[in-house]
Amino acid sequence: MPTIDWLQREFSYGYSSGDILSDAGDPVLLKEEQVVGGSYRDIFMEAIATYLRPDSRVLELGPGRGSWSRAILKYIPNGKLHTIDFQDVSQWLDVDQYGGRLTCHTVTENSFACVADDTFDFFWSFGVLCHNNVEQIEQILGNALNKVKVGGIAIHQYADWSKLDDFGWERGNVPKSFQDLPDDEIWWPRNNRATMVAISHRAGWDVLDPDLGLLERDSMVKLQRKVHKQM
Ligand SMILES: C[S@@+](CC[C@H](N)C(=O)[O-])C[C@H]1O[C@@H](n2cnc3c(N)ncnc32)[C@H](O)[C@@H]1O
Repeated sequence: MPTIDWLQREFSYGYSSGDILSDAGDPVLLKEEQVVGGSYRDIFMEAIATYLRPDSRVLELGPGRGSWSRAILKYIPNGKLHTIDFQDVSQWLDVDQYGGRLTCHTVTENSFACVADDTFDFFWSFGVLCHNNVEQIEQILGNALNKVKVGGIAIHQYADWSKLDDFGWERGNVPKSFQDLPDDEIWWPRNNRATMVAISHRAGWDVLDPDLGLLERDSMVKLQRKVHKQM
């Protein structure tokens, strides 16, 4: 099921994770946090804000309605955010409001040809790789590598069936019936830390941490574009 055609159609309604930095008990955010077993504010602070400077260049894959994008833009007042999604996310993110700091690319494949090489300090996605099968993830990571500056960091949430077993499939809102179906027929294809490490290496990244340990249900990998060694 997670073919590119399916992914392009499935999220056309515009997925939202709510207001990530909300103090006010946003009900969408609270429901999400319950299902994944983690705090989105903590994730933002530990897995995003730590890596941002006011002038950072950030690449985000699959922003949907832009829950994470809005929070990132608050932390890069002199920086730039480029988003890449199968959906035209400018219908949900008001590009004009950000005075040239936000560019939204609508794509039909995983080439990353819409953004320039050696551009980004930080590459982020959440709720995206978990819906792509491992072949697609390897293609995404391979094609995105040179878009990030040498030494730049990437952090991505991904499905981890080992953690899901411990957390509970029902509690995690993933149908247990998926265990008997091939990856092409489900929207939460098989992945785990060992697989993610292997495909990240094959795609050319250094794996700094296979899982930041911020979610009970899923994993979040921390990658770095290799720093060239002095000869
Ligand atoms: C479940 S939504 C998550 C939205 C947002 N990141 C969040 O956490 O609230 C997944 C989004 O990623 C996009 N997407 C999934 N796979 C993609 C891919 N390979 N390339 C571009 N966009 C992708 C979908 O179109 C959708 O907008």
